[in-house]
Amino acid sequence: MQTIINLFKEKFQKKERISVVTCYDASFAKIISEIEMDCILVGDSLGMVFQGNNSTMPVTLEEMIYHTKAVKRGAPNKFIICDLPFLSYQISVEQGVSTGGIAIKETGCDAVKLEGATEIALQTIRQLTEIGVPVMGHLGLTPQSYQVLGGYKVQGKDEKTADKILQDAIALEKAGAFSIVLEMLPESLGEKITNSISIPTIGIGAGRHTSGQVLVINDLLGVSINFKPKFLKQFADLYSITKQALSTYNKEVKEGIFPGEDNVFK
Ligand code: KIV
Repeated sequence: MQTIINLFKEKFQKKERISVVTCYDASFAKIISEIEMDCILVGDSLGMVFQGNNSTMPVTLEEMIYHTKAVKRGAPNKFIICDLPFLSYQISVEQGVSTGGIAIKETGCDAVKLEGATEIALQTIRQLTEIGVPVMGHLGLTPQSYQVLGGYKVQGKDEKTADKILQDAIALEKAGAFSIVLEMLPESLGEKITNSISIPTIGIGAGRHTSGQVLVINDLLGVSINFKPKFLKQFADLYSITKQALSTYNKEVKEGIFPGEDNVFK
């Protein structure tokens, strides 16, 4: 049986790029399940794009479990990673291990993701991996710490912070992480980290040389029109399509065009 760790390892060894997309509900998960996307991340970005908060910090473990279960129902055969939300793993190793274990046990996801490389995070990764829970790391712009990082900004622009992120990546690999998300880094640093470790890096705004890429589904589909960072490519314009469809529905209801002959039970 293929596991997420095997798939990532295989692709990494063959130098094949890994594709990851976020997803929060069963309908989109079903669409993703029909294409060759390697993996779904149920990101705590749902706190912003789904719940409308201005950060990921309010998201709870219960909410992550709820959305991950929905995604699992929509895409039962895809590899799914559940993001551990703010304050569900940072307090102690025991807390982190318990949270990671509960996430995988209750949702049936394949792995969990946590941000940063503090001593607690590293030990949590070590213990989760030991008890059988694959862990993905996340470095660079770690949105749960956006306040202390000075906002949603490119990280590692000077030598000192760049070296710290590189050392953190090496530490995450040593602790047992099977992959690391690198968010908003200069391309050269994304490449350097990727060449310095032997687990795949998944970039979001970290340039072209990471082992794979991840994007937030709402952003790449063009649902959120006000979020257009340099690293984002919009592959569709769902905002306009959705607005147009809803306006037409509204008009047809008001003009008595919908429901039409085809939409009624005789
Ligand atoms: O929460 C999320 O969606 C993420 C990705 C942006 C990597 O962490």
